[in-house]
Amino acid sequence: MSTQASILKVENIVTRFHTQDGLVYAVNGISFDLKKGELLGIVGESGSGKSVTMMSLLKLLPMPPAEIVSGTAKFEDQDLLQLDTKQLRKIRSGKIGFIFQDPMTSLNPVLTIGYQLAEPMREHLGLSRRKARKRSAELLEQVGIPMAESRLGDYPHQFSGGMRQRVMIAMALA
Ligand SMILES: Nc1ncnc2c1ncn2[C@@H]1O[C@H](COP(=O)(O)OP(=O)(O)OP(=O)(O)O)[C@@H](O)[C@H]1O
Ligand SMILES: [Mg+2]
Repeated sequence: MSTQASILKVENIVTRFHTQDGLVYAVNGISFDLKKGELLGIVGESGSGKSVTMMSLLKLLPMPPAEIVSGTAKFEDQDLLQLDTKQLRKIRSGKIGFIFQDPMTSLNPVLTIGYQLAEPMREHLGLSRRKARKRSAELLEQVGIPMAESRLGDYPHQFSGGMRQRVMIAMALA
């Protein structure tokens, strides 16, 4: 057992959906505790509520139909579930990176990969255009995209599914 402090302590999250056919109970009281330096994998069959659990933590679900009925998610002395959209946006852009399951719907199809990587770094980290571009290439390389710099001008459809998911990982790292 680890004696390290918790980074994220989730207790008893219940999330359900109000649908035309009635209530769908997607997450029924999940709890877990993530310590500093730990990696936590959550495993379960398709539809068992893994994505809904994580999206509940950052209020990434459309509400309605989704409703977080109960639970707490303690992150740095605050309960994520009690934060408003503005506070959560700050955490999402600075402290918790989220890699969506379907990268095609989270990348903008009409903007280049390089732009989509660099723009948030310019905005949130205040990097110059040149520095952000250089950092984007480094990050792409870090996640295993060959000839990264030459691919910054590509659009998402020019990348494979796995490569697009790597771009999302690069964004989370950034
Ligand atoms: N918008 C929605 N409206 C109604 N039900 C939903 C909605 N989104 C998800 N669900 C339901 O919530 C349950 C949990 O879905 P979730 O996406 O969390 O599964 P998962 O464990 O991530 O599965 P997978 O391994 O396939 O990604 C499923 O029964 C799903 O049908
Ligand atoms: Mg999922």
